Amino acid sequence: MRLQGVSVEAFAKINLGLAVTAARPDGYHDIETVFQSVSLSDTLALTPLESSSGVSLRVHGLSVPDGPDNLAWRAAEAAVAEFGCPGVSIDLTKRIPVAAGLGGGSADAAAVLVGADALFAIGAPRETLLDVAAALGSDVPFMLSGGTALGTGRGESLERLPALSGVWFVLVTPRFAVSAGDAYRMARIGLTEALSFTRVNCLAVREGDIPTLAKGLRNDLEAGVLSAYPEVARVKETLIAEGALAAVMSGSGPTVVGLVKDEPAGQSMLTRLAGRGWDIHVVAPIDVGQRVTPIENEPVG
Ligand code: C5P
Repeated sequence: MRLQGVSVEAFAKINLGLAVTAARPDGYHDIETVFQSVSLSDTLALTPLESSSGVSLRVHGLSVPDGPDNLAWRAAEAAVAEFGCPGVSIDLTKRIPVAAGLGGGSADAAAVLVGADALFAIGAPRETLLDVAAALGSDVPFMLSGGTALGTGRGESLERLPALSGVWFVLVTPRFAVSAGDAYRMARIGLTEALSFTRVNCLAVREGDIPTLAKGLRNDLEAGVLSAYPEVARVKETLIAEGALAAVMSGSGPTVVGLVKDEPAGQSMLTRLAGRGWDIHVVAPIDVGQRVTPIENEPVG
């Protein structure tokens, strides 16, 4: 039997609080954040390009580059270089809003690394995967395992937290992109108290204490983005006015996450928020970064 390909479901992430603690000499910022995988995904079908060590990428759904500007492409190149595997053909079905603070590009990159590892039975050591992921982007290491985790450093240093339950999320994305670089340039650094709010959030996550988590949610990238893009402030106000337990921008935005108690509460909020020109997704927390399934097996010889 020969594995013909793998299909990878690559989950988006949200940030349940994000503290920017310092600007670094390398141009990045030190942060503390609680990453959470959610049930909104892209799908990547990976098949071998037997005759070459190149990369081929086709994109369906939302519009993203189909060349080296796409992080999935660069992840495939890195897999070929680091794992010595054959080239990869990728069919990417894009659903996660782009440059929206949901880690879609990072999820796709991690999916390519994990997918190529499975497709070619490489068995790459965890440390190698993490190193390759960190070189691709700050959020990619988290996306390898997903679930719930405290991220520090530039986001690549991870500590797994217990799976979150008892809460759903309404993701509201205005239809414009915000570059992470711009959001960090506008960041208000050092707003965070000595006992960082992300530590408080971590404790709340560990104890499954949703009210405390909701009360403690802050994102140091939010003030800058909200003043540059007033529409994001309107989204946040609307989510609170419509009864969200809390509303906080995810990562570098512009997506705002509204916390709700369950799926019916999320669906009812979606109905009330419809027709305002925002993309809305009602999602649950997920405890993995991706799911890999074989596409097809065919007998050899
Ligand atoms: O690592 P990644 O390529 O995703 O980061 C995109 C941009 O976001 C960086 O070039 C940097 O400007 C900013 N960034 C940062 N500090 C972080 C993560 C990202 O300043 N911890």
